[in-house]
Amino acid sequence: MAFGWIDEQAELRRRAGLVRTLRPRAAESALLDLASNDYLGLARHPEVTEGAARAARTWGGGSTGSRLVTGSTELHAELEGELADFCGFEAALVFSSGYAANLAVVTALAPHGSLIVSDAGNHASLIDGCRLARGTTQVAAHADPDAVRKALGGHEGPAVAVSDTVFSVDGDAAPLTGLAEACREHGAGLVLDDAHGLGVLGDGGRGAPHAAGLAGADDVVVTVTLSKSLGGQGGAVLGPSRVIGHQDNAARTFIFDTGLAPAAAGAALAALRLLRREPARAARAGEVARELHTRLTAAGLEAVRPDAAVVSVRAPSPEQAVRWAADCRAAGLSVGCFRPPSVPDGVSRLRLTARADLSGAEIERAVQVIGETRP
Ligand SMILES: Cc1ncc(COP(=O)(O)O)c(C=O)c1O
Repeated sequence: MAFGWIDEQAELRRRAGLVRTLRPRAAESALLDLASNDYLGLARHPEVTEGAARAARTWGGGSTGSRLVTGSTELHAELEGELADFCGFEAALVFSSGYAANLAVVTALAPHGSLIVSDAGNHASLIDGCRLARGTTQVAAHADPDAVRKALGGHEGPAVAVSDTVFSVDGDAAPLTGLAEACREHGAGLVLDDAHGLGVLGDGGRGAPHAAGLAGADDVVVTVTLSKSLGGQGGAVLGPSRVIGHQDNAARTFIFDTGLAPAAAGAALAALRLLRREPARAARAGEVARELHTRLTAAGLEAVRPDAAVVSVRAPSPEQAVRWAADCRAAGLSVGCFRPPSVPDGVSRLRLTARADLSGAEIERAVQVIGETRP
């Protein structure tokens, strides 16, 4: 029977406790949200929603075409200019998602005969970029510049190392200075996915590469998403003009995809301007994360020390992680739940987002619920 194998796979997933289900949320909810990626609490900020609405009224509901045909508006150009300037890069190009930006950058920078050295903990979108690229991929041990150095040392020809700046599962930071040194020793490029660093790390939220002194370097390319700290939707690639111009011409997820919707560009632009005006929001997200970690650890829970705004709490098994998250939800707290195959090391976790707009009382309540519902 056509598609019969799907039922077998579904049964295997069910037995392993790995079934995922969609749960559409209501516009208003009494749940305390520690599950979204709205790190700075900007997704529903009036300036951000008004930025989206104004852009839709001015430019329409969609961008009407691919970026190289009719999908580039003056608004896209404005957003690209301001993003590049804020993060300290020569140029930027926006995409319909961070996922598309990662596919673009890895495929466009890894031609036939090249080497990609990819951190073992990288996000799925970087992994998929490696799978689509013409170059050969070597997976390097997690957060290990020496492993990158060794891999690059055995290769002749173009090479790039690719890494998240803040790993999305455990919230730990990559050793950016060490990675840049390893790449420079071998004349390789460095591609960094700052999805979880932008808006949280660096001066006023300028991101992890800016904090590491790598912004504007001619051998560093950064991807970001507009869908986390900026509270919108979309992605971008930032880097030297030469590299960004190459994306225009070589990145298939740029060329063959409809341009970012004007409302998304308008929302991101408004959020970026707000962040410039209120830089303390960025530092606050980090503070909340550290406070969550301290309190969770004091309550006897096993949490990873956060380097940005993601706090990861170990769960004994996938089934118990799912039940734990459900019990939190029943007690009024929404948390993320990560389990295989999203986590390559097979360890299931609750994933908490330290939003900058959480109050002390909300942090206390979150820790209390997580502690009381622990398996
Ligand atoms: C590290 C990382 N990179 C890229 C993405 C993809 O970004 P987007 O959701 O904008 O497609 C995500 C999350 O969704 C992420 O966590």
